[in-house]
Amino acid sequence: MADIVYAFGASHGPLLSTPPHEWDLRANVDRKNPELAYRDGTYTFAELAALRKADGFEKQNTLEVKTERWNRCQAQLDELSRRTLAQDIDALVIVGDDQHEWFFPDTQPTFAIYHGKEVYNRALSEKEKEEIIGRGGAYSMKVYFPPQDEVYPTPVNLCEAMIARAMDEGFDVTACATQPQDGGVPRKLGHAYGFIYRRILNSKPIPLVPILINTFFPPNQPTPKRCFEFGRSLGRAIAAWEPGKRVAVAASGGVSHFVVDEDFDHRILNAMLKNDWATICREPQIMFRSGTSETKNWIVMAGIIAETKLKMELLDYVPCYRSEAGTGSGMAFATWQ
Ligand SMILES: [Fe+2]
Repeated sequence: MADIVYAFGASHGPLLSTPPHEWDLRANVDRKNPELAYRDGTYTFAELAALRKADGFEKQNTLEVKTERWNRCQAQLDELSRRTLAQDIDALVIVGDDQHEWFFPDTQPTFAIYHGKEVYNRALSEKEKEEIIGRGGAYSMKVYFPPQDEVYPTPVNLCEAMIARAMDEGFDVTACATQPQDGGVPRKLGHAYGFIYRRILNSKPIPLVPILINTFFPPNQPTPKRCFEFGRSLGRAIAAWEPGKRVAVAASGGVSHFVVDEDFDHRILNAMLKNDWATICREPQIMFRSGTSETKNWIVMAGIIAETKLKMELLDYVPCYRSEAGTGSGMAFATWQ
């Protein structure tokens, strides 16, 4: 038996790398978004601002409040980094979502597991940097992508065991034996994985297993219940890995964004604190749209946790607002030990 010894959940997002005095860069992107997803509706920015007027978000949008939120988030990211790097582990399983980074609309797997020998996080080309800067991501790209190419090892036999177990247990997973390429150049490592490698692990080459969930793109996103059950299968595969091996698990992304919904975030996080898996699995599919869909990465991880006796510690939940319509990100940071 291998041991799952530690897990953590970390939100990611532009507000964790963009200094608070520049959060308007992101609010301006929201203002042009005609499809802001909030609960079961879809709104323009003006419609959403009118709908949520009573919430008084102008009080949340002062530089003072934004700076306080930023400092809390950075402190918890530093703490997650410290706790994670202190673990003596043989492998880290990262549950993330692919947002047209490795997979595109021609083929979008619901669940994919990478089982190649290594993961390549290459430095961006000048053209890619220009594109990201054009989308307001000048600050963010440094957190996800290294200045020089980095290569991280993969525990191939663990990846293969997870694939075999999933297939045995009724999950027809996509197996990814090589990093997808364009003209011989590997595609960029997904932001969900790059964030963990760069911001939490400080590029320390701990062997990792990327689990790629299609949380984002219709029509084949898995339901919360399916995510949870898939996680349980992964948990059983990890436990059956080589005796003496120590494994950690991470969920990257979530909770609500790019419209903050504190009720949703508290509902999910409180259920996780109580191991109340039924409440999580009952959450309607429509609640998981846009960035909020990444909360399903936490639900897959919850399934893995359900196969262990680890206990959750919620380090902080920080609602980071950036506009009068309540856009921004709900940031959650937690460990299981
Ligand atoms: Fe994300």
